[in-house]
Amino acid sequence: MSKLALLILSLPLSCGAADFLRDPLVSQEIAKLGPEDPNVPRGPLHRAGQPCGACHNPEGIATSFTVAGTVYRDPKAKVPVADVVVLLIDAEGTKFTANTNCVGNFYVKPNEFSMRPPMWTSVQMGDVPFKMESPFHREVSCAVCHFDPDGPDTAGHLFVADDPTTFASIPLRPCGPADGVKR
Ligand code: HEC
Ligand code: HEC
Repeated sequence: MSKLALLILSLPLSCGAADFLRDPLVSQEIAKLGPEDPNVPRGPLHRAGQPCGACHNPEGIATSFTVAGTVYRDPKAKVPVADVVVLLIDAEGTKFTANTNCVGNFYVKPNEFSMRPPMWTSVQMGDVPFKMESPFHREVSCAVCHFDPDGPDTAGHLFVADDPTTFASIPLRPCGPADGVKR
């Protein structure tokens, strides 16, 4: 067979192969996140800081989420903060708030809030909200854009305080019975 014939044959094939390729790519993405921490059961406290939506999406391997993420105390240290208010406002102006748990994770299920993009968001602990100026669209995970290390491809992890003189005043709540964790 000539090279040209091979090329022509491979064109429609490569387009049709996109769906087929998606699964291996998704499995690779999931594999890159590594195994579960054996000390943390699958559930609200697992995989803090990871892009939850890699697994928690309508075609994914776990319960679908509308959005999910992890919030830390400050831009540098990854100190998890509980009871942060994550405000979401969709294209119709509908508001929804989610609260972080003791590892800083929050997640919203479609039966609680199925947003109409674009979405605006802020995170707040205390008086001053940190607002994201631009909206986001269909991303489930805040962490697809907010990850470490800080650099040109990322907005850095989510945080609730950027003035070091206030860090000590941010209350930290260790995981305990309220989070389903036995001590
Ligand atoms: C590598 C894949 C993967 C990632 C990443 C992941 N999870 Fe999960 N998660 C699972 C699996 C698998 C289960 C168990 C099956 C299920 O409950 O859907 C689960 C279960 C859960 C549950 C219990 C489900 C329910 O219906 O109550 C919650 C809550 C949860 N994960 C939150 C998160 C959060 C928050 C993140 C990100 C910080 C995250 N997960 C990241 C795979 C993942
Ligand atoms: C598509 C990429 C993207 C997604 C998804 C995304 N962000 Fe952002 N975020 C950015 C960028 C870029 C900035 C900096 C510019 C700006 O504020 O628009 C930012 C800034 C922010 C800020 C302001 C931080 C500061 O320094 O004041 C907050 C708060 C924030 N995002 C929260 C969130 C939350 C919560 C989610 C998930 C519900 C999320 N973001 C999802 C890209 C994203």
